[in-house]
Parts: sequence; structure tokens; C-alpha cells
Amino acid sequence: MVQHEAVTGSEWWRSGVIYQIYPRSFADSNGDGMGDLAGITQNLDAIAELGVDAIWLSPFYSSPQKDAGYDVSDYKNVDPLFGTLADFDSLVERAHELNLRVMIDLVPNHTSDQHSWFQQALAAAEGSPARNYYHFKDGRGKDGELPPNNWQSMFGGPAWTRLEDGQWYLHLFDSSQPDLNWENPAIHKEFESILRFWLDRDIDGFRVDQPHAMGKAAGLPDHPYVETAGAGFIEEEPDPPMWFQDSVHEIFRSWRRILESYPGDRAMCGEAYVLPLKKMALWVRPDEFHQTFNFRFLDAGWDKAALVSAINESFEAFDEVGAPSTWVLNNHDVIRHVSRFGGDFGRTTASDGIGPDAVQPDNALGLLKARAATLFMLGLPGASYLYQGEELGLPEHTNISPEHRQDPTFTRTSGQRVGRDGARVPIPWMKGGTTNGFTSANSAWLPQPESFADLSRDQQTSADSTLEMYKASLKLRSELGLGEGSFSWTSNDAVLSYQNKNVIVAHNFGEDSAKLPVGQLLITSAPLNSGKLPANVTAWVKV
Ligand code: NOJ
Repeated sequence: MVQHEAVTGSEWWRSGVIYQIYPRSFADSNGDGMGDLAGITQNLDAIAELGVDAIWLSPFYSSPQKDAGYDVSDYKNVDPLFGTLADFDSLVERAHELNLRVMIDLVPNHTSDQHSWFQQALAAAEGSPARNYYHFKDGRGKDGELPPNNWQSMFGGPAWTRLEDGQWYLHLFDSSQPDLNWENPAIHKEFESILRFWLDRDIDGFRVDQPHAMGKAAGLPDHPYVETAGAGFIEEEPDPPMWFQDSVHEIFRSWRRILESYPGDRAMCGEAYVLPLKKMALWVRPDEFHQTFNFRFLDAGWDKAALVSAINESFEAFDEVGAPSTWVLNNHDVIRHVSRFGGDFGRTTASDGIGPDAVQPDNALGLLKARAATLFMLGLPGASYLYQGEELGLPEHTNISPEHRQDPTFTRTSGQRVGRDGARVPIPWMKGGTTNGFTSANSAWLPQPESFADLSRDQQTSADSTLEMYKASLKLRSELGLGEGSFSWTSNDAVLSYQNKNVIVAHNFGEDSAKLPVGQLLITSAPLNSGKLPANVTAWVKV
């Protein structure tokens, strides 16, 4: 069984807990129903009190918001929807006063179609330097009426859109998100300047969007198994021509050098959806990304065998290259873990959301398991990611009406896939009104479900609340140095347990209450049953 030794590196990103803020849905300061940067700054105390080390901000750049800001039209400015550059500077200053580091999202695979680079490319001739910023190609067929290849968009439909002049452009996501051509050295220069722009504003790092899509195989050949994989890939099959191309590694090496030329420990986390983890580990070699999101762990669901194998695979792969594993259960792209674990919603459907017609999750059971899963995760050595609202135990909103839905997945699939809006709903601060303190407006950009009222932050003051469990466990994690700790399994029966330093973390996957490890009980995810560990509950015990 896998063993992991405590790390010696003292850099914060090896063991830190990073809290993802989704700016649209965190807090609205100006009463327009949309969260903004000033709203974040005003409420950062609550995040510092939670006991995390850093925040990661999803995109707030100038953007037509066709994919909630992952369609950037100016990488060096703030969208007026979220405020100004001055608001951003105040946010960073306040965060640093509170000892919170700030990571921001960088979106280098594609821009918005409204970006001046794309607008210039549209106005320029075929084969011009301006078009060489993107992938413009002639089509197949007699009159070029067929797309240049068989690639599909991640959001559904073909990955190509045809212009009036007859050429096609590539977009692995929405048609409003043309893919950049990373074969062009001019793009490298543009992004180096973007990195420096934000590092000069004193940010502590980047979360990099879709880095595994940036390189494309020469000649853009067909996806060899598109019928089975659609836009994606199958682990056992060869790499498709749009994912994991070797050419990208040199880019991240050059970015790492830029980060290292700044004082302090600046870090990059890649959203590299690369599996198996042995392959992902190549992205966190000492001169590339500092971390990547551990999607194997996220995908494991709350299934014992999958969890054990994900954890084993993680330590084996990341220890090999001296990188920390990250652990993550939630983000803005997947069904919230309360609802995922309250039903049978595996990874394959996780980013497709849960609609009103689906079998609905049992959120009470889901919350029990989700709290246990979080406690199990926070005991693991390495870095952990949390997503806003999970500390409140928020469920997925499964009943958003079609006119409110904004995720391009919904429109591109004519509602077949409801998409990710259910995980992106504005979070509740103070019980009451239509948005429980999120905004002073009558409504927010997405409506909340009724269940959010009682889960509002101001309601969660008792020791058994989910918020207090997050706070208490983060405090213990930091006091005991568990993020920098060691790992070995101690049992794999109905109770699954591991030891980190002198703490045993045990979860009861069985049906009956079970004996606790002998020692001092530090925390549990739910009350014990006559001194025993009930089903679906995690405990930390000092031995
Ligand atoms: C991953 C982001 O997390 C997701 O929200 C976005 O839609 C895609 N990348 C495209 O940028």
C-alpha cells in the first residue's frame, strides 16, 4: 500500500487550502444583482475567518459573458460588471492584510470573439498575420462546405464555425470562444505580457484554464475515435490531436521562469484534465506547474474502492516528481458534492447538471456524506481546494427555469444537457428576502432555491453547523500541520482509515456503527452513536 513521507519544502502551495470565489455569485455591492469585486473585498473577513490560505478568483476580465467570463475580450482590464482595476487593487491589498494569497484565472486556450485580436483577424485577409493568431482553415468538400475536420465542441455541436468569406475557425468550446494558435510566437509574447501585468499588481499566482488544449497536432488531423469520445478522450486510447500535445510544456516552463523572477512564492495551478495521474504528473515537474487539479479524486465520487485507488494513484504519481497532490471535491463546473453524493451522479454527468426532470438527489443523505468527505479530504497531506458555498453545505439548484439558464451547454444542446448553472447560484449570507443578503436588488442573476435560506451564513453559528465544522477542521489542520504531513493507510474494511502524523482519519463506509480508533477524538463530521462511529461519518482521532 502507498506511503507518503512528510514534505520538507516550505512553499505555501504545497500544503495550502485555496478557496475558489466565483465573482458573479459571491456578493453584490452595487445592487445590480450580479456579484462584484467590491462585494468580495467587503466580505473577505468571512473567508479569512474560515481559515483558508488563499483565494482563487474565477474570471472578472472584460468579457461579453457568453461563458460566464471564460470568454475574455481584454485580458488587462476588469469588466464593468465586476468593477475597475482600482477595485481589483483594493481587493488584493485587503486580502494581503488578512494573510490571504490571491490567485487569478488565466484563460490562454481561447479568447472571446469580441477580443480585438479576433476582430482584426476577421477584418484581415486569409493567410494574414492577424488570422495566424487563431486557427482559420478552409473547409472540406467541393466548395469547402464541410468543416476542416471532425472535431466536436466540449459544449456540444461541431468545433468549427464558418465565416461569410468561406473560411472556418476552430473553437473547442462555444463559437464565441475561438481557440488561439499557440504555434504562433506572437501569442507567447502577448501572454508573457499579460502574466507580468497581473504579477506587477501583486497577485500570488494563476489558475490556468484548459492548459491541456493549448497545443494542437500539426495539420489538425481528425479525432480518431470521435464516435465514442465526442469532444473528449478515453484514457486507454491514444491522445486525440487536440489534447495533451507535448508542445505545451515549453510554454509552462517559460511561465514558471517568469513567476520565479518575482519575489515570494508565486504559484500556477493547471486545470490539466490529464489522466492517468502518472501522465498528469508530467505537468508538475519541478520547472512547470506547481500544482494541477486532482480530477481523479474529484471523479471518484464517494465510492470506497475508487477513493482508495485515486489516493494511491495520487501519491504514487506526484511523489515521483516531488509535487504536492491537490484534493478537490467541488468547483463551478460540477454538481455540488452535497447533491452528487445524495444520488447517483457520476463524473460523466457531473458537468451536465441535474434538471427538474431528473431523479432528484437526497440532499439530507448527501450533506451527511459531503461533510464526511470534506473531513476525509482535509486530513490528507497536500493542497486542498474549496469552492464557495460548500462551507455552508449548499446543494445544487436543480430547478432553474429555462429562461434563467446561462450556461452555453444548455443552448448548444437544446436543453438536453442542463449545464452547470445549478452549481453557480449566488450564495446566501443573511436569511431573508429573495436572495438572503446576496444583493440589495429584488433578484439576483440566478435565483436561489428555497433551501438556501436556512443555510445562510448567519444561521450557521452552532457547533454542529457545516460552517463551524469547516472552520474547526481547517484550524486543526493548520495547528497540526496536516497539509505538510505524511500518509499511510491504517485500515481498509468497512471503516477506511489513514494516518497523517499522529492523527488517524477514519470514515465508516459500512452500514452499522463501528468502533473508533483508540485515542483522543478531535472532530467528527456528525455526532457519534453511543461512542461509536456511525455509517457515513468521518472522525479525526489523535493517537
Ligand atoms: C474550464 C472552466 O472551468 C469552464 O468553466 C469553462 O467553461 C471552460 N474551461 C472553457 O474556458
